[in-house]
Amino acid sequence: MKLRNDSLLANVDGPPTELIFGDWYPALRSDLLRKGKTTTSLLLGVPLLLGRKNDGRIFAMRDLCPHRGIPLSAGWFDGEHVQCKYHGWKFEPCGGQCAEIPSLTQFDTLQPGKIFAGAYPCVEQDGYAWVYVPKPGENRAPASLPPVPELPKFGPRFTTAHLQADLPCNVDHGIIGLMDPAHGPFVHRAWWWRSAASIHEKTKHFEPIPEGFRMSPHTPSSNSAPYKLIGKPETTIDFSLPNRRFETVVARKNGEITHWFASLTTVTPVTASTCRIDVIAAWSMLTWLPIVRPVAMWFGKRFVRQDQETMMEQAEGLRFRPAMMLIDDADKPAKWYFALKQRRLSGEGEHPLTGPVELHWRS
Ligand code: FES
Ligand SMILES: [Fe+2]
Repeated sequence: MKLRNDSLLANVDGPPTELIFGDWYPALRSDLLRKGKTTTSLLLGVPLLLGRKNDGRIFAMRDLCPHRGIPLSAGWFDGEHVQCKYHGWKFEPCGGQCAEIPSLTQFDTLQPGKIFAGAYPCVEQDGYAWVYVPKPGENRAPASLPPVPELPKFGPRFTTAHLQADLPCNVDHGIIGLMDPAHGPFVHRAWWWRSAASIHEKTKHFEPIPEGFRMSPHTPSSNSAPYKLIGKPETTIDFSLPNRRFETVVARKNGEITHWFASLTTVTPVTASTCRIDVIAAWSMLTWLPIVRPVAMWFGKRFVRQDQETMMEQAEGLRFRPAMMLIDDADKPAKWYFALKQRRLSGEGEHPLTGPVELHWRS
């Protein structure tokens, strides 16, 4: 499910931001990668050639030939090797090693196997092709990699759905929009969700987690009608760098989990000034009832669309590079995000949360 508005996206190029390299990002849905076929994508401004080998393994190469820089996507893929269109060099795509240089003769000493095209770690998880994007200038990934993010599941039977929307703003605006509690009653105004009149004061508890923060388990806001369907659930929301928001809603009876819902939302830089939001969700309720998924998708799509439209409008304004304000307490999570990002980029500084914090806002 993809939400786009290409004409608007093409017209806007807002201010860029610094990107966090050296981590995993979802490049695209992995069912788009068919055996023996390739496709292209942009991730953190890096052009990628993605594909699936005949043995089922997926790969993500830098879409540039190391010989003279023509995109490898201009060439051929036979399910085993990617061959450059210009001089026919062949590469094994998972590791990037050169397998053949057609112009070499018996008089040459050059060993093709010592030449590598850029090839990045690439893993299928929750229906995404996750790609580890190394720091610029590092063509190889380090030996030890952080774990690939995974949507938590609390039982064997569940339904899943995913959504995707391009955003014409840089990843910072996408992320702080995601964690912003104060826009709900205005942007997500709808009869089935909430009205502006439903605003009331809230108290939320947060605690630090590695490279992020957790909204401590709480019972969802009583003005969110859909939550009433699943009983007395407990919600936990985690945000962690570089771009991940996990939300889990677990309902328990006598300590046993009766129902659960989990979502992972990521905001991924496509370039330094544009990004894409991906939502994957899984839930245990009514898995036998086929109508549930389309209905959930209908609501989810509208919800994400409301955010997307608002960010397109915001991008119009951001072209004029206005200054930004972050206020307490509603924008406190955004302040933490910027502090955590700075800490990751510089390798210095303290976690912005030294312990549990209570925040108050009206939404
Ligand atoms: S540019 Fe790719 S083989 Fe020469
Ligand atoms: Fe929103």
